Amino acid sequence: MKKIIINGANGFIASNFIHEMRNKNYEVVALVRASSKYSSEQRMENALSEINDGEHVNFNKLKTYSYSLLDDDFSITEKQMENIFDGDVDFFHFAASLKFDKKTKDEIFSINVNGVRNAIEVFLKYATKKSRFFFVGTAYSCGKFEGLFKEKFYPNKDITQFRNYYEQSKRFAENVVKENIDKNRLNGHVIRLSQVVGNSITGVTKTDYGIFDFAKRIHSLAARYPNKTVRVHIDPYSTQNLIPINTVVSYLMRTLEVNELPVIMNFIAKNSMKNIQLINGVCKLLPINITLVGHIEVGEMDALERIIHAGMSFSGNYIDTNILFDTKNLNSIILSPGDEVNEKNIFKMMKYFFDNISSNGGKQILAQAV
Ligand SMILES: NC(=O)c1ccc[n+]([C@@H]2O[C@H](COP(=O)([O-])OP(=O)(O)OC[C@H]3O[C@@H](n4cnc5c(N)ncnc54)[C@H](OP(=O)(O)O)[C@@H]3O)[C@@H](O)[C@H]2O)c1
Repeated sequence: MKKIIINGANGFIASNFIHEMRNKNYEVVALVRASSKYSSEQRMENALSEINDGEHVNFNKLKTYSYSLLDDDFSITEKQMENIFDGDVDFFHFAASLKFDKKTKDEIFSINVNGVRNAIEVFLKYATKKSRFFFVGTAYSCGKFEGLFKEKFYPNKDITQFRNYYEQSKRFAENVVKENIDKNRLNGHVIRLSQVVGNSITGVTKTDYGIFDFAKRIHSLAARYPNKTVRVHIDPYSTQNLIPINTVVSYLMRTLEVNELPVIMNFIAKNSMKNIQLINGVCKLLPINITLVGHIEVGEMDALERIIHAGMSFSGNYIDTNILFDTKNLNSIILSPGDEVNEKNIFKMMKYFFDNISSNGGKQILAQAV
């Protein structure tokens, strides 16, 4: 069975992918940064335990190495590199900064663009010709795009064409992959994900990104100021493209099985969720009444509404999006469409998420709300 190498391996999506590969007996090499407190092995084990709610995890056939994304050879010895890249491998580049704002622009570009450049350099140096390089990108690298966002490369654009520096950096990174396919015959692929949420079957939700970041803020405010009615500047009928983590993992597993893959694949949901559907779930679970208004000036907001508005510096860019993504390439590789997000399972995910927010007495808030 082919060996899979993953960087950013302790992250939310990568660790779920690794868990499934472990279940299917793939040999996996995980590249994880060590922290001041934990070794890379401990960080990987913690990530796998966390997604399994603390249950025992089988680490058999999982090798973890500490690495440094931007350094030559990832700061791993040549001998170890030769062992890691021994035989044909699939290499998945997950490592990224999910920050988005102007003040961290240099850090975002360094990790998200230079990090990809360096990973490709390492890959081209050590991997066999048949090995494949997968860059994990985002469907939102479409930027402020109108029409159907196809599974093809788009040119780099300036920041005015994107909602934030994260989106722009991921577009630039895709073009680093393209450059290497064209000039260096990189056997490269781009997998673009939309917003990844919890598990559609179990409801287990271990991410606080995107809509869950918003939900976390509302949870905290509802605890401090229960039973208030607030107006929020969000278009109720605009949509969010949400994809369950179990669907993402099933599609990623499929890429391992298919030999001839398209270069770019949009891993997105066919059906998007309306903002109003998401907010209705939040209001059922928390002691707060949120009214979505298409537009409201900051000057017209009360103090609580202004706090919510200020906390939407990231999610606020996605309040009126209705993007269409092409999925021809995705459809050509999957056996059947994966589970989608719907009102019922997103409610289950929200409930799990709120139940598990340890601070602010999440469970007490739910009890009050019922
Ligand atoms: N979550 C989503 O909805 C979503 C949607 C579209 C695309 N994506 C893409 O999917 C990938 C994984 O996302 P995720 O949600 O799983 O994110 P995550 O949980 O934040 O994981 C990010 C990973 O990148 C690593 N990383 C960050 N900075 C690094 C650096 N300087 N050097 C080495 N490693 C570094 C992190 O390691 P540390 O723990 O050491 O910081 C972590 O392992 C990213 O490429 C992201 O852009 C995610």
